[in-house]
Amino acid sequence: MTHTLDRADRTARIRSAWGAAWDHGQVEALDDLLSPSYVRRRGPAATPQDRETLKDSIRAVREAFPDLRTEIEEIVEDSDGDRMAIRWRSTGRHTGTFLGVPPTGKPVEVSGATFARFDGRAVAEEWVTFDSRQLLEALGIVTTTQRAAVDPDLVRGVHRKFITGVTVVTTDDDGTPKGLAVNAFSSISLDPPMVLVCVQRSSTTHPALHRASHLGISILAADQLDVAKIFASKGGDKFAGLSWTPGAHGAPLIDGACAQLEVEIGERLEAGSHTVFTGRVVSAHHDDLAPLVYSGGGFFDISHTAPLPW
Ligand SMILES: Cc1cc2nc3c(=O)[nH]c(=O)nc-3n(C[C@H](O)[C@H](O)[C@H](O)COP(=O)(O)O)c2cc1C
Repeated sequence: MTHTLDRADRTARIRSAWGAAWDHGQVEALDDLLSPSYVRRRGPAATPQDRETLKDSIRAVREAFPDLRTEIEEIVEDSDGDRMAIRWRSTGRHTGTFLGVPPTGKPVEVSGATFARFDGRAVAEEWVTFDSRQLLEALGIVTTTQRAAVDPDLVRGVHRKFITGVTVVTTDDDGTPKGLAVNAFSSISLDPPMVLVCVQRSSTTHPALHRASHLGISILAADQLDVAKIFASKGGDKFAGLSWTPGAHGAPLIDGACAQLEVEIGERLEAGSHTVFTGRVVSAHHDDLAPLVYSGGGFFDISHTAPLPW
């Protein structure tokens, strides 16, 4: 009988302390629920929190979402009531800066589960898991949902109006050079020197790039159309019979290219069907050669064009 009362008491105290802290900002209510040596764990990447840092993060969340409401949807206990699993859903309107994102005014919903271990009347330890995608997506930090698309042919037509060069993006995959032709290359910043390339996840080179620390970018010269064709083909040994040199950081660089970079990969951002690799330029070289130009699905030698006065 005492046991049943203990369990009812624990459940009631969770509901009341959570409501006070998360919904009303009365974080001191947690002192009644959480033991002084309480630890909150959120997976291997996150630093565990103690009672005071949990209070700080509740305050920060409530500043960004002042109308926060957390609904406890279910509490499941183990047979002796020492462990409880709490399934919850939080909603709130984003009206204050959060994770560096200024207020969007958007309603945000996040759901998750907390596993609590009691030591006597107090919670000694919690493991928290929640769908962070819901939050990041609502704040516009990531996009994973498909929206009503503009006709792809129309978009393709737009892209054909944009003139680019042609690069070969490479990496050293445990001693084997790998690479593909890429025109989705851009400078991000000069100081610090950063660039990006976009690579389709279906590319056979993609797995090697994903595990690499460095990549090479060779901007092809006007007389390297044959090289562009090799690297626009799928799989196989594209380097056989080709003249290339490993850069100072090990990335294969194509000889005869008009410019070459080596990049220490920073972020790998998943975007649509592609991964955007960003990184810091760690070596750079260019020669006095005209670049190969790609426009409207065709290749051009820019040295035959006339500069416009301006
Ligand atoms: C001019 C040109 C530009 C290209 N740009 C890109 C690009 O930016 N990103 C990409 O993933 N593929 C791009 N491709 C396509 C790849 O090079 C092509 O799919 C290649 O077969 C991939 O090889 P892999 O699967 O062996 O890695 C481009 C192809 C050409 C001809």
